Amino acid sequence: MSRKYVIEGGRYLKGEIKIRGAKNAITKEIVASMLASGKTVLENIPDIGDVSLTTQILEDLGCVVNHEKQAGTLSVNTKNIKKYSVPFEYSGINRIPILMAGPLLHKFGQAVIPMMGGCDIGPRPLDFHISGLEKLGTKVVFDGKSYHFSADKLIGTKIELPFPSVGATENIIMAAVLARGVTVIKNAAIEPEIVDLVMMLQSMGAIISQEVDRTWVIQGVERLNPVQHRVINDRIEAASFAVSAIATRGDVTIKGADQLHLQTFLNWLRKAGGEFEVLSDGIRFYGKDAVIAPIAAETAVHPGLMTDWQQPLVILLTQASGVSVLHETVYENRFSYVNALNKMGAKIQLFKECLGGRQCRFLYSGHLHSCVITGPTPLTGAEIEIPDLRAGFSYLVAAVMAQGRSSLSNIRYIERGYDRILEKFRALGVNIEVEED
Ligand code: EPZ
Repeated sequence: MSRKYVIEGGRYLKGEIKIRGAKNAITKEIVASMLASGKTVLENIPDIGDVSLTTQILEDLGCVVNHEKQAGTLSVNTKNIKKYSVPFEYSGINRIPILMAGPLLHKFGQAVIPMMGGCDIGPRPLDFHISGLEKLGTKVVFDGKSYHFSADKLIGTKIELPFPSVGATENIIMAAVLARGVTVIKNAAIEPEIVDLVMMLQSMGAIISQEVDRTWVIQGVERLNPVQHRVINDRIEAASFAVSAIATRGDVTIKGADQLHLQTFLNWLRKAGGEFEVLSDGIRFYGKDAVIAPIAAETAVHPGLMTDWQQPLVILLTQASGVSVLHETVYENRFSYVNALNKMGAKIQLFKECLGGRQCRFLYSGHLHSCVITGPTPLTGAEIEIPDLRAGFSYLVAAVMAQGRSSLSNIRYIERGYDRILEKFRALGVNIEVEED
């Protein structure tokens, strides 16, 4: 049975919502609990599909998981992990299983992980993960379906990543914490979600320091202990709702929106004409009288403009008076979702060139990774199939802004990553129903 969201457009968002824990931190922290034996308790847990998927895998391996959805707590007891092989049914579902390589290697000396998936936003290879694990002393064999990892003992080493990959940095950190000796990761990712993972690992007993120029130094320890940890708030969820408030000319207070982790986003939002007021426990975003202005920006690794903020910003820029440019430098194929926006009345063109900023590694790659938006354009309701999580949220906002009715299918993508999305949109005054075919 397939489910659809049906949205009556022409609305503005008004009210207050509360942000929950970050999808891109909690899923990794659930995996990190496997590095200790016993019961770890995580707090501020969002009710999202990726948490269920990650905990299902841990249960398959023998962990006992208890997710109290209302309270937002999740406990993982890892005492009885008995399998080192992630079932093949999890192949292609998300990017989490590959992060289990380190914890399983430490426990069993081997790990079997099926091929990876995740949102369809480019090839998303695993070469940095694999070569990092190999440098730490792991033997890796790919049999065409799964990766087979084996190692007697991981040994600290120096690794320089070709690009500051979030997943590869997390993978190497989780493999290095219990390795013998010191591991240095250069050109590493330093996103706030990784810092949160490092804080959890430190509470567990790890010794990890951050040095200048994107460097993590991990001093291996003998053992880690279970802990209680509160997950960092979701800065992508916060930015997504912030843009929705302004683009619909509404007024939304986002409790738990954290200025520290939204600093770059807030600068770009302000340049685009968005108004906000920082409160003691969140940020209020309002757009009733906003003059939406065009911008030329590019996505980048932290502390740059996040690639996951790009999609809501594009929606806002369809309402700017003039021509805006967004250059995507993290993923080569993250703009195909704009075709559906053009169907709704937007004027967005894609280019293979690096527009609006520096040259990136996708220059001459032939990928459409720059986007030119001409506004303002009114939007009209449409029937849209969601291709990935962040594009899905943007379609939802576009549907709220559009005149008429829209229907969105493949909503499982949105529900994978946004906590209680229906409840939150309804609380902000949106008329949204779920239909089942
Ligand atoms: C994480 O993906 C996030 N996912 C993504 O969020 C986010 O967009 C991305 O980081 C960048 O911030 C999770 O945390 C689960 P990367 P990840 O490794 O770790 C290339 C969302 O919607 N690369 O930093 O998979 C890769 O192809 C998602 O929440 C290699 O070439 O991203 C990409 O171009 C989408 N080889 C770039 O690096 C590798 O071995 C950055 O990818 C690994 C990555």
